[in-house]
Amino acid sequence: MRHLLSTADLSQAEAIQILDVADQMAATQKREIKKLPTLRGRTVVNLFYEDSTRTRISFEAAAKRLSADVINFSAKGSSVSKGESLKDTALTLKAMGADAVVVRHSVSGAPHRLAHAGWIDGTIVNAGDGTHEHPTQALLDAYTLRQRLVPDAIGADLKGKRVAIVGDVLHSRVARSNVTLLNTLGAEVVLVTPPTLLPVGIDHWPCTTSYDLDDVVNGGHGDLDAVMMLRVQRERMHDAFFPSAREYSRRYGLDARRMNRLPEGALVMHPGPMNRGLEITAEAADSPRSTIVEQVANGVAVRMAVLYLLLSGQAEGKDA
Ligand code: NCD
Repeated sequence: MRHLLSTADLSQAEAIQILDVADQMAATQKREIKKLPTLRGRTVVNLFYEDSTRTRISFEAAAKRLSADVINFSAKGSSVSKGESLKDTALTLKAMGADAVVVRHSVSGAPHRLAHAGWIDGTIVNAGDGTHEHPTQALLDAYTLRQRLVPDAIGADLKGKRVAIVGDVLHSRVARSNVTLLNTLGAEVVLVTPPTLLPVGIDHWPCTTSYDLDDVVNGGHGDLDAVMMLRVQRERMHDAFFPSAREYSRRYGLDARRMNRLPEGALVMHPGPMNRGLEITAEAADSPRSTIVEQVANGVAVRMAVLYLLLSGQAEGKDA
């Protein structure tokens, strides 16, 4: 594997390998000295054309803990605001000898373009492209699910686990990447969304769908192991997709009442950033079932694993 662009590119064995290496990375992060020498002398560029808190600092922490040199580039304050194209920015990064470029872009497919246009020699990692994919988020979600739900986690898949992904599926790269990866790992997924936020072509996705959160929470699609709430992505909405925020919360929000009807031990997840009070109440977000903060911590270990697997083999001049 040379790039990580989409969860669809991962076989089950590759996905499990990433989760297993992430487990080893997580163990090193409990030590007093967290830094490993693995990527010493390598350069990782974080190329962020879209706002980000968690993903950017998580990739930065991951690369630094592997001793790589990290260059953070955000479109705001760069020559992008002077109209520089993705190609010219990429050529600049190439000239600087970037070994890996972690890219977030509002245009779906931008990381694929970077990977395949020949503008850059390094490895490309997709950190979220438009409404398309966010593979490392899906990997950290799968890692969190496996760690919490599977007793002997190493080497294990997620067979038989059932996950509901709830909310603004239409605009969510997190949902797309998760549906594919969870399916690869053997889990069952039900998407719960208002009809207006259901993407075209959903019939071809490997999951079932529902418009009724109460039914799904009550076990209408089988007992749930986790509920993953999605942010309502107002910045991508150029239309009214639901009558009012109140109406949305009432039908598709996770509150204490719905949460308490979930099977015992079922997890509450959210990739962040949350709209507290809209798709999730504070009670649900801060409850002991919630893995939201854990997901962020796991993100560092998972991204360490991804960077390590992609870059370490290349030191000897071969594909990792
Ligand atoms: C997600 C993203 O940017 O796609 N956030 C994240 O990476 N943690 C989800 C979102 O923005 O809603």
